[in-house]
Amino acid sequence: MASNEVVQRGLQDIVAVESHITFIDGKGGRLLYEGYDIRELADRSTFEEVAYLLWYGRLPTRSQLDDLRQRLVSLRPLPEPLAKLIDTLPTDSNPMDVLRTAVSALAMLEPSEAQPGPNSIGGALRLTAALPSMIGRFQRRRVGLAPLKDRPDLSHAENLLYQITGKEGTEIENRALDVALILHADHELNASTFAARVTASTLSDLYSAVTSAIGTLKGPLHGGANERAVELLLECGDLGRVEEVVTAKLARHERVMGFGHRVYKVEDPRATILRAWLHTVGESAGNLKSYDMLEKEREVVHREKGLYPNVDLYSGSVYALLGVPKDLFTPIFAVSRVTGWTAHVLEEYRDLRLIRPSALYVGPTDLTYVPIDQRGS
Ligand code: COA
Repeated sequence: MASNEVVQRGLQDIVAVESHITFIDGKGGRLLYEGYDIRELADRSTFEEVAYLLWYGRLPTRSQLDDLRQRLVSLRPLPEPLAKLIDTLPTDSNPMDVLRTAVSALAMLEPSEAQPGPNSIGGALRLTAALPSMIGRFQRRRVGLAPLKDRPDLSHAENLLYQITGKEGTEIENRALDVALILHADHELNASTFAARVTASTLSDLYSAVTSAIGTLKGPLHGGANERAVELLLECGDLGRVEEVVTAKLARHERVMGFGHRVYKVEDPRATILRAWLHTVGESAGNLKSYDMLEKEREVVHREKGLYPNVDLYSGSVYALLGVPKDLFTPIFAVSRVTGWTAHVLEEYRDLRLIRPSALYVGPTDLTYVPIDQRGS
């Protein structure tokens, strides 16, 4: 690219694709899936219904939803070679690496599901159903427990919590997780979804696209932020130290995870909803410590930097109250976002155009090759 062109670092504000799936109003603090407000979906819908909405672009009828639920349940079990592969991975592996490897391996075990094309919906269902099984298998193994028997009677969120903790959640815990899954299902052209679309735009397969996306979600500036947000609370220890620790962090020009957003200029609506759920779950568990600490943190960061919370400020604390280990927070994000990734990949296949931006070259143009024996030691 010629040197008079302007570089939009981080592709900020660049519109790269046309999409029917998610609308974010960054100034108004609104998020819509296929035209439906996230607040209404979080209030009245379920994760399975939202998955259908993202894949098919409309809300399901009762029978369509029942059919989707049954298909998701039937697709939960992992093929034996994949279960064995997960059992051979080091128990101290990063669970996001486990997920990435497992999805990639599944592509070779079920190549027909992975094929690219507008009908890759089978692969989308398979990955959505299988991700909780992959996480559950790894979690049980690393704590020295046998894998759990399948529980077809449990919903997606209920099964996820059961797979991780080995016990059924309460009604409040299950619903809190269901809502968290709804809130994380899609978010327009975020980094991992973009990575998925870039991969799909080469006409590569759906599983490769999701593998790219998982690797991208892993980073602390994206999915990894919720884990770091909880680590900061642990560093503070108690409410009385939040002000001091957070102020010192900001004074060192460090980022406070769970605040700020590339698109939202007001509070992320998902953060507002999850904050209320953190209160509900905390109250029912008789433990409002993280809620109170985060309220203090919110006050300090807003006062010092004018920044608002994003969804990652609260998700980790909700999961921690549900008994989820810290390093499974981002994998739970993947369990939800896989619906958005695959919806975007299907959209990309329907309107394919190779995604290939340009770089502004800033290096030299007139060097002469020097043979290796004349380059000195
Ligand atoms: N803590 C402290 N300062 C922050 C901040 C945070 N979480 N987020 C942004 N800022 C500051 C930056 O330091 C920068 O300040 P400066 O202009 O004085 O250098 C300014 O706000 C703009 O930040 P920038 O990184 O250019 O904005 P962005 O649009 O690229 O940032 C994020 C978006 C999400 C990457 C950023 O807000 C961030 O790193 N947040 C923490 C990670 C996180 O929570 N990620 C989950 C997102 S859902």
